[in-house]
Amino acid sequence: MDRGLFITLEGPDGSGKSTQIEYLREYFHDQGIETILTREPGGTEIGEKLREIILDKANSDMCDMAEALLYAASRAQHVKQLIKPALEAGKVVVCDRFIDSSIAYQGYGRKLGDAVRVINEFAVDGCMPDITFLLELSPEIGKSRIKSEIQDRLEQEKIEFHNRVYAGYREIAKFYPQRFVEIDAGRDKLTIKKDILECIEKILTGRFF
Ligand code: TMP
Repeated sequence: MDRGLFITLEGPDGSGKSTQIEYLREYFHDQGIETILTREPGGTEIGEKLREIILDKANSDMCDMAEALLYAASRAQHVKQLIKPALEAGKVVVCDRFIDSSIAYQGYGRKLGDAVRVINEFAVDGCMPDITFLLELSPEIGKSRIKSEIQDRLEQEKIEFHNRVYAGYREIAKFYPQRFVEIDAGRDKLTIKKDILECIEKILTGRFF
C-alpha cells in the first residue's frame, strides 16, 4: 500500500460530526490502525491561530475574500505539515471538515463561486480525500442544537446563509459521487455510526486487513 486513507466529515453546523469522529477514533483504535484525528480550520499551530482569527465574533468586518483566503491558508499549512506526511507514512487521517466546507460556506454561502474551488485546489496540492461523509441535516435543526451564546462568527450567520451552504453541499455531493457518501443525520447517532462504519470496513478490506 503506497498511501494511507484520508477520510473527511462534512455537514452543516450541529450535524453531529464530532460524535461520529469520536466513534471513528474508537473503531480505528480497536482495529490497531494508527490514526490522526484533526480538524479545519486548524490542525496545526499556525492553523489554530488562523482559526481564532477567522471565528472570532469581534472580526465582524472581515471581508468574504479574506475569510476564504484564511481558510485556504490554514488548509495549505495543514496539508503540508500534517496530512500529507501522515498519508505518506500509511496512516489513516480523519479530518473534521476540509475543502468541501470552503466550497459550501464561502463558494455557496458567501456567493464567491468557483474562485473558492480554484484557490483551494492550489492549497491542497493534489491531496484530496478518499472518502467524504456528508451528514445531512436541515440547518434549522443543526443551528438549534448550538446555544446562541457559544455560536462562532460563522455559526451566528442568518439562516438564509446556512440554507445556501446546505444546498451547496448537496450539489457538491452530486458532483463527486465516487467520493461522497450522503448520510441522513436526522437519525439516532448509533444508526449513523453503523452506516459510516459499514462503508469504512468495505474500503479497509484489502487495504489494511
Ligand atoms: P467547526 O465549528 O465545525 O469547527 O467549523 C468552524 C466554522 O467554520 C463552521 O461554521 C464552518 C466554517 N468553515 C467554513 O466556513 N469554511 C471552511 O473551509 C471550514 C473548514 C469551516
